[in-house]
Amino acid sequence: MSTPTREIHLASRPFGWPTHDDFRTVETKLPDPGPGEVLVRNTFLSVDPYMRGRMNDTRSYVPPFRLDAPLEGGAVGEVIASGDEQVPVGATVLHQAGWREHALLKTGQGRVVDVERVPASAYLGVLGMPGMTAYVGLTRIAPVQEGETVFVSGAAGAVGSAAGQMARLLGAAKVVGSAGSPEKVAWVTGDLGFDAAFDYHDGPVGQLLKEHAPIDVYFDNVGGEHLEAAIGAFKEHGRAALCGAISAYNAVEPPPGPRNMFLIVGKRLSLRGFIVSDHGDLRDEFVEKVSGFLSSGELVVRETVREGLEEAVPAFLDLLRGGNTGKMVVRLAEE
Ligand SMILES: NC(=O)c1ccc[n+]([C@@H]2O[C@H](COP(=O)([O-])OP(=O)(O)OC[C@H]3O[C@@H](n4cnc5c(N)ncnc54)[C@H](OP(=O)(O)O)[C@@H]3O)[C@@H](O)[C@H]2O)c1
Repeated sequence: MSTPTREIHLASRPFGWPTHDDFRTVETKLPDPGPGEVLVRNTFLSVDPYMRGRMNDTRSYVPPFRLDAPLEGGAVGEVIASGDEQVPVGATVLHQAGWREHALLKTGQGRVVDVERVPASAYLGVLGMPGMTAYVGLTRIAPVQEGETVFVSGAAGAVGSAAGQMARLLGAAKVVGSAGSPEKVAWVTGDLGFDAAFDYHDGPVGQLLKEHAPIDVYFDNVGGEHLEAAIGAFKEHGRAALCGAISAYNAVEPPPGPRNMFLIVGKRLSLRGFIVSDHGDLRDEFVEKVSGFLSSGELVVRETVREGLEEAVPAFLDLLRGGNTGKMVVRLAEE
């Protein structure tokens, strides 16, 4: 028997902003799992900004997506047929064969996750890669000290919303965020407990941030003008965790760098980039701490959920323009 299914392929490499024409939905059939394999019905797919970089044919920390092949990305799903006695039918697995309704996984390609206490989609967000990114940034890359002021850009997104709240839980006295709409600003200062936030469309970021300066730590999801503003707002010995630069992901020309780099010297700043996958040794500590924050209600989580495989591409395109609050996921099936 074989299972009919659909998957999304990269049809062409986007130049600048991606469009629907860069993607194609393909109908196919998957064989039954052989020994050591499992067939998974995906319930949630993750769409993430880093996927835009993998659509370019350039060397990076992950290889580019292949043309005319299914895209990849984080997903969770239910095992519906198993040739692996360690992974029974009914188990929920986290894996990287996203952007498709079903996935045939070999041993080791999926990790069984506990969905008794947390919803499966949490493993794509706060208990998964984005949550871990926030944790690594604030504990290892630019560790927050008791009483400090922390600025987080992309504050209403998956990583930023976790980072701002974790900063407070790690001892920050003041947490400031920036986001792309008044609704997002209200959410982070309301439900998430940020002390202050601004909409970066309301003026030059340097001026908007000045009101909340000086800062000790900057968690950078955005790059560009935000990074320049943070360099200007730092105290001496300030630290930045450079996590992402989404303001430039669709640029067709290299964007100008911060014009105030000389301040890095005068203020003795440390600006350090990182990739979460290099810090797997922190996983157990992260899961323990964040599970505790979740069960105590100290960490507030929100998802923007789109329904069905046909929504995967629109969800990704919208993510790049700020169409999400919290983690953007696509639900394919009931859990
Ligand atoms: N280093 C790592 O290992 C690692 C791991 C995961 C993620 N990241 C990076 O972390 C950042 C956040 O990722 P995420 O998954 O949490 O995505 P996200 O923040 O949930 O979604 C992306 C957000 O970026 C904002 N944005 C888009 N264009 C912008 C611009 N020009 N200026 C300012 N904000 C803009 C939008 O929100 P607004 O409405 O606020 O504009 C959008 O909602 C990304 O840069 C990503 O690449 C890095």
